Amino acid sequence: MKIILGADHAGFESKKLITEWLHKNNYETLDCGTNSKDSVDYPDFAHHVANGIIANKGEFGILICGTGNGVAMVANKHPNIRAGICWNVEVAKLTKAHNNANIICLPARFISFQEMIDIIKAFIETEFEGHRHLNRIKKINC
Ligand code: RB5
Repeated sequence: MKIILGADHAGFESKKLITEWLHKNNYETLDCGTNSKDSVDYPDFAHHVANGIIANKGEFGILICGTGNGVAMVANKHPNIRAGICWNVEVAKLTKAHNNANIICLPARFISFQEMIDIIKAFIETEFEGHRHLNRIKKINC
């Protein structure tokens, strides 16, 4: 499974640690930057990850900024992108089971590295439930 990652300066360190963990656990990654703690604009990286998902370059995306909000706002401007902010395991499970998100957005300044890993694992291990939720996600695009 290949996972596309992107972050701004607030999420850079987390992206590095998450990437290491993913590689140790036999996941492939596609890194859309940023690659340092220098201040950058989160839309540049969120667009990059969203375009990668639309082009089928990875199974799902992980975007990280300070709150998770900025990257989610940008990614959700792309048709067929469903980017959900996940701050705990239960939300991560529902973000897959009910919303079939194709990007998860993590708030680097508010949750720990271990919480991020638990969220990612929960998201991967959860199946989309379909049925009524499929009807609902079909209504998302404008
Ligand atoms: C960067 O300081 C911060 O604004 C950004 O990471 C993010 O939280 C925006 O939504």
